[in-house]
Amino acid sequence: MKRAILAIAIAALGLSLAAGAFAAGEVKNPEQRSWSWDGVFGKFDRSQLQRGYQVYKEVCAACHALQYVNFRNLTEIGFSDGQAKALAASYEVDDGPNDEGEMFKRPGRLADPLPKPFANEKAARAANNGALPPNLSLITKARHDGPNYLYSLMIGYGQPPAGVKLGEGMNYNPYFSGNQIAMAPPLADGAVQYGDNTQATVKQMAEDVTAFLTWAAEPSLEARKRLGFKVMIFLLVMTGLFIAAKQRVWRDLH
Ligand code: HEC
Repeated sequence: MKRAILAIAIAALGLSLAAGAFAAGEVKNPEQRSWSWDGVFGKFDRSQLQRGYQVYKEVCAACHALQYVNFRNLTEIGFSDGQAKALAASYEVDDGPNDEGEMFKRPGRLADPLPKPFANEKAARAANNGALPPNLSLITKARHDGPNYLYSLMIGYGQPPAGVKLGEGMNYNPYFSGNQIAMAPPLADGAVQYGDNTQATVKQMAEDVTAFLTWAAEPSLEARKRLGFKVMIFLLVMTGLFIAAKQRVWRDLH
């Protein structure tokens, strides 16, 4: 009896492992890259974040919201107060109701969130062939190996291998689950014109927008790493003190 149960358990384990291997073979693992914010001393590169914001603003923002970022937050990636104010003011945002009970439009302010492209989910789907462009605020956290995944997804579009049939309006991308994605390749060489003369290749823009979205998902990453480093130093010093104290206390005991 026990043996039978064991055999069933082993068979079930084998089956689930085989299923896992199958799924992993279908979706390509993201390209592994090194990022400026990796490691204990990792930091964001402010010019890269600003380029990434430009890519988000000029390309992705047509379809994707970035819910948790306010214009004020842009000062954290190296824009001055004045620049962030000017960026906010370049948008018309809804406000109200006023004393007459009517909604009205006014220029954006620092406290406003970045405007979202669609009023609601139905409008977003209607404009995208039924597919929903997700909010990108936490995307690098929501996906396994987020930054590498996002980068790979951006540069991974291509022709489907022979025998693979795409659904209508779908695009082949081996990094997306199912290998078909409703989003058309969002980046093409020269899609934006960088102010700092960086060449706007697909790879460059993919890197920059990945950096920007990683920051958007965790603006406090640098502070967290600094704190982690201080805690390690503190623990090291304490360990030294404790060893010294222990030796002193036990010195005369043989
Ligand atoms: C024309 C509209 C459009 C633009 C522009 C666009 N996307 Fe998308 N995006 C979509 C749609 C639609 C989906 C949903 C795809 C699906 O579910 O098959 C999507 C999905 C995604 C996903 C989710 C993938 C996942 O794992 O679920 C990411 C990440 C993404 N887009 C990033 C970007 C970035 C970064 C940009 C700018 C460089 C961008 N998109 C520009 C329409 C767009």
